[in-house]
Amino acid sequence: MFEIEVTIGALAEEPLCQIFSELGIDSCAIYTHSEKLTEDELWENENILPPDGLCRVVGYTAQENVESLVAQIEEKIAAFADFGFDLGAYTVDVRQIMDIDWAEEHKKYYAIAEIDNMVICPVWDVDTLTEEQKKKLVILLEPGAAFGTGLHETTRMCMRLLHETVKPGACVFDVGSGSGILSILASKLGAGQVYAGDIDSLAIAAGIKNSALNEVSNITFLEGDFFASFEGKVDLVVANIIVSILKELIPQAKQRLTPGGKMILSGILDTQLKEMDAVLSQNGFVLLKTLQEGQWVSLLAEKKE
Ligand SMILES: C[S@@+](CC[C@H](N)C(=O)[O-])C[C@H]1O[C@@H](n2cnc3c(N)ncnc32)[C@H](O)[C@@H]1O
Repeated sequence: MFEIEVTIGALAEEPLCQIFSELGIDSCAIYTHSEKLTEDELWENENILPPDGLCRVVGYTAQENVESLVAQIEEKIAAFADFGFDLGAYTVDVRQIMDIDWAEEHKKYYAIAEIDNMVICPVWDVDTLTEEQKKKLVILLEPGAAFGTGLHETTRMCMRLLHETVKPGACVFDVGSGSGILSILASKLGAGQVYAGDIDSLAIAAGIKNSALNEVSNITFLEGDFFASFEGKVDLVVANIIVSILKELIPQAKQRLTPGGKMILSGILDTQLKEMDAVLSQNGFVLLKTLQEGQWVSLLAEKKE
C-alpha cells in the first residue's frame, strides 16, 4: 500500500481530488487551513496542516506501479495548465505503508478476561480456552461496536456484584445493556427472566447476537430510555452508566423494584460516591456494599420499603 501526498496551492484542491479519483486513488484526506478552524484547532493541527495558502491532498493506493501513477498525476496537473488553469508549484511525496487488516486489527484489543470464576471470551478466541477456564462460567462475546467487553473496571465490578446477588428465578432489568454482557451473566447465574434495555439500536442488535451465541433464551431486549417499553416489577436492577444518568434512573428504578429489591450501580468515580449515596437515601435506598477498582466504584443498594 502506498500513500501519495501532494502539496499544492489551496485553489487546486478540487482539481487534484478529481485527478486522484480518475486515477483510482481512493480514501483521500484533504488538509487545508479553514476559516472555520478555531485557534485551538489550528494549534492542534499545526503538524499536519500545510502552510497557509496551500493544501495537502493525501491518497492511498494498492497499485504496484506507483512511479507511473505519480507521472500520470504530473501529466494531469500539466494538462490543467495547458487548459489555461495553472495549478501552480507543487510537491509529490510517496511513502510505502504497511497493509493493515482492520477487521483483524481490532481483535488485538479484546482478549480473554477472567473475573473470579467467570471468563469472558471473544468469540474468535474460543479455541484457545484452557481446560481450567472451560470449567468456569464462560460468556462468549462478539463485542462489535457496543460497550461491554468485560475489560472495563465498571463492568467487572457489576459482574462480581451480580454473582453474589442474583437469586435463582429472579427477575432482572439491565439498564444500558451494551453488548448484553451483564444480561447474559444474570441469565447464566439462574435469573428466571432478564430484561435488557438500551437507547442504542446497535447495542440492542449486539445484545441479541451475543445472547444467541451463549444460547440463553430468557432475555427480552427493549430499545428505549430506561424502562420506557416495560411494564411490571423486577427484583434486581443493574446499570453501568454515568452518574448524571444514574441519578435520573434511581427514582424510576424505585418504582420498578419489588419491596426489598436490589440495585447495582456502576460508572461512578470515587469522588462522586457521597453525592450518589445522598441520592440513594433520598429515594429510600440503603447502601449495602461498595466495591472499588482504581478510581471507579460500584454500589449495591436495597430498596427499604
Ligand atoms: C457503559 S455502557 C454499559 C454496557 C454494559 N452494561 C457493561 O456494563 O459493560 C452504557 C450503556 O448505556 C446505554 N445508555 C445510556 N443512556 C441510557 C438510557 N437513558 N437508557 C438506556 N440505556 C442507556 C448506552 O447506550 C450504553 O450502551
